[in-house]
Amino acid sequence: MSKEHIVIFDTTLRDGEQSPGASMNTEEKIQIASQLEKLGVDVIEAGFAAASPGDFDAIARIAQRVKNSTVCSLARALEKDIKAAGDAIAAAPKKRIHTFIATSPIHMEYKLRMKPDEVIKRAVEAVQYARTFVDDVEFSLEDAGRSEMGFMKEIIDATISAGAGTINIPDTVGILLPQEVAERIAELKAFIGNRAIISVHNHNDLGLAVANSLAAIQSGARQVECTINGLGERAGNAALEEIVMALKVRSDVFDNVETGINTREIYPTSRLIASITGIEPQPNKAIVGKNAFAHESGIHQDGVLKNKQTYEIFAPEEIGLDVNDTLVLGKHSGRAAFKDKLEKLGFTLDEEELNEAFARFKELADKKKDIYDDDLRALVTSQMTNI
Ligand code: KIV
Ligand code: ZN
Repeated sequence: MSKEHIVIFDTTLRDGEQSPGASMNTEEKIQIASQLEKLGVDVIEAGFAAASPGDFDAIARIAQRVKNSTVCSLARALEKDIKAAGDAIAAAPKKRIHTFIATSPIHMEYKLRMKPDEVIKRAVEAVQYARTFVDDVEFSLEDAGRSEMGFMKEIIDATISAGAGTINIPDTVGILLPQEVAERIAELKAFIGNRAIISVHNHNDLGLAVANSLAAIQSGARQVECTINGLGERAGNAALEEIVMALKVRSDVFDNVETGINTREIYPTSRLIASITGIEPQPNKAIVGKNAFAHESGIHQDGVLKNKQTYEIFAPEEIGLDVNDTLVLGKHSGRAAFKDKLEKLGFTLDEEELNEAFARFKELADKKKDIYDDDLRALVTSQMTNI
């Protein structure tokens, strides 16, 4: 059975940059775009060209550099935004304009101050104008999560006829539950059929962005918009690494789809983003958090030493993580893990020496939460030299 491709649309450089404190300079953005290309993302949303001359310049330079991924710029449904986007991405071999307008009653009434008919007209004009620059146009219904189904169908129909190839259904405020996403996307899939690719863009205000993205894929979405480390406005966007690894690890469920992501580049990409933005993923963050493969309790460490699959659902190497140091020793660690660690550090102790070192280690672990390699070296060396 041939698998359907899930388009991985990375918006770290656009929505991710909207994370408080995450702004990046042009050189940093180019470095990130090159790494995203290496990671194998299909579409890189490089920024919002009309936002500032700096954004325009960064997108233009990324467009000159990136060859394998599509380079995309965001644009409001305004002529000047679309022109800036079209000009900024001009040099890219593969390019896309992503234009959007809000479709929820609250956004149309209070933010846009426009009637629904005017919104549809503006959206159609925006897509048509974007098509004068590129063949690949994406249209987003901002705040689709709170938009009415009937109105969404009307504007989707009109923008597909105007030339949009991808229709994005953002849960802009992160309010939907997975079951609701599944039902809404299934209804839209039945309506749209193969006329356009359905995309989702989920925010994480309730911590459900990844679950909602997976639910959407099960209902027929074939593009997911996401960011590295889940960076993004407020509580962030769906995390690329979590979606991709869920699809991979649970390929029994997602047996009809695949991504083009080279998962071994996930960890290096995560580290690059953290070092550039200064925003570290939380330690217990799935996939890339510093504790994601750290087995601290003695029972777990013993199990992992006997067979890694006892407590690991995939090997850290699969995301490009060097595993030498995934065992963190602490007061719950057992003798087997302690011995294994010492051997990795180059110490081979006889039974008696090991017993003494283990007793000293337990004393130390009572005072110090995490025991690092240097602590162990000091402990063993001082024992051997009787200090
Ligand atoms: O969250 C959102 O609705 C967006 C759109 C611009 C796609 O970021
Ligand atoms: Zn967003």
